[in-house]
Amino acid sequence: MASWKTICRVDDIPVQGARRVARAQGPAVALFRTADDHVFALLDHCPHKGGPLSQGIVFGHSVACPLHNWTIGLDDGQARAPDQGCAVRFTVQVEDGQVSLDADELSTLATRMAAA
Ligand code: FES
Repeated sequence: MASWKTICRVDDIPVQGARRVARAQGPAVALFRTADDHVFALLDHCPHKGGPLSQGIVFGHSVACPLHNWTIGLDDGQARAPDQGCAVRFTVQVEDGQVSLDADELSTLATRMAAA
């Protein structure tokens, strides 16, 4: 069973924006909030050349990377064609307006990559 780490409230994430969550090891995680109030989490590291996705433009359920404008799906981390690649995805739980991330994923996923 997952153990959840409480991060913030949904309201702490700007609508159509993002919030960075630093980790002890590896790149930060970017929490995204869409216009319809869904929350998604991806590694703050674009699959192209590592751009900070948290600084991209959120539209629909996607984010446009600020460096070279690749479109990354927030739900699956996949780059949209013709681009190819996948951002590391983290599981999000939202309960009573509180956003939590899976503690095991936070401490294990992509921790060997250099932090940005
Ligand atoms: S680093 Fe994201 S599109 Fe190039």
